[in-house]
Amino acid sequence: MAVKDDVLAALGKVLSPDGKPLTQSGTLSDIVATDGKVFFSITVDAAAVKQWEPVRERAEAAVRATAGVTSALVALTGERAPGAGSAAPSRRPQMQAPPGRPQPGGHAPPSPAGIPGVEAIIAVASGKGGVGKSTTAVNLALGLRDLGLKVGILDADIYGPSMPKLLAIRERPQTIGGTRLKPIVRHGIPVMSIGFLIEEETPMIWRGPMVMSALTQMLREVEWGALDIMVVDMPPGTGDAQLTMAQQVPLKGAVIVSTPQDLALIDARRGIAMFRRVNVPVLGIVENMSYFLCPHCGERSDIFGHGGARAEAERLAVPFLGEVPLDMEIREKSDSGQPVVAVAPDGALAKIYRDIAARVRDEISIASRPAPKIVIEA
Ligand SMILES: Nc1ncnc2c1ncn2[C@@H]1O[C@H](COP(=O)(O)OP(=O)(O)O)[C@@H](O)[C@H]1O
Ligand SMILES: [Mg+2]
Repeated sequence: MAVKDDVLAALGKVLSPDGKPLTQSGTLSDIVATDGKVFFSITVDAAAVKQWEPVRERAEAAVRATAGVTSALVALTGERAPGAGSAAPSRRPQMQAPPGRPQPGGHAPPSPAGIPGVEAIIAVASGKGGVGKSTTAVNLALGLRDLGLKVGILDADIYGPSMPKLLAIRERPQTIGGTRLKPIVRHGIPVMSIGFLIEEETPMIWRGPMVMSALTQMLREVEWGALDIMVVDMPPGTGDAQLTMAQQVPLKGAVIVSTPQDLALIDARRGIAMFRRVNVPVLGIVENMSYFLCPHCGERSDIFGHGGARAEAERLAVPFLGEVPLDMEIREKSDSGQPVVAVAPDGALAKIYRDIAARVRDEISIASRPAPKIVIEA
């Protein structure tokens, strides 16, 4: 790959704070170069981030000046040094304790910094793909908007971004001052997705640090403006990206999307366990493709054994947020980039999503309440 070699050569001329060439500093992730767009991250000790910021800038400028490169995104990621700090031991997100096992040391990691101007960040998640998580995320965001809230959407599904298609977005985000990105606005909602930056055919070589840096960049280097709620469409599963999100930003809570089938519910349970492990409140479960309403006769059939998610929510003591039917209109509209809440706001489906949005809003305010102080009398 010619561009990649040229990029490496350019980075060899950028010096790290100790005077060594960047390429010999052991801080570089894999370099992803597709169609002239180059991404990589520099991972350094958290205490040295300030010193490294100019290096990041120089690296980005050097890459951008390389022939064949049309855009460059370089993320600087701070990592806690081993043994540093008293609370959590240093570990990368992908090295978290596996499900079910308690966190080593039993300490919660220090709270990550918020995004200035953004009141609450919530994740829409599912244990597996294809359950309608992205469709739910978009329509939930629109429902929240209809409640009068300022909403943004971050598509954190690095491996399978959905927002370009669900919102029919083909343009590229503009940059402000070279480094910060302007989100694309649709239906009054600012949206950011890795899908706006890379081509669909980009190979799935994004791993741990790459996922982390791309997410960090989309969170922190985008002009989100003032938002009441940022809705994050999470990648399916309980891997790196989810843990990264939970560690990089203070998530107010998570909405779990599940279909009624048992298998999906097992995955949903895994998702819930993961958020609990990182101390993110589960705001509730949405049962998607819950039942089928025949468009011809209006008869309702519970093709997947509807109601599983409600029962499961009760069993797990998490709120049940509502059920969305399996409906051709939802599929056709989402697949053509016209989410149902935006284009048929007076319909029954839009109302279902708005009701779910209202419950989510209420759960967020419950989750935001400070824990009651317990005063022990001497
Ligand atoms: N309630 C629904 N009724 C009909 N089709 C749906 C519904 N929810 C999602 N879909 C369709 O199912 C497919 C997968 O949905 P998507 O939101 O992309 O899932 P995920 O993000 O979980 O992979 C899409 O084609 C979408 O249009
Ligand atoms: Mg999706």
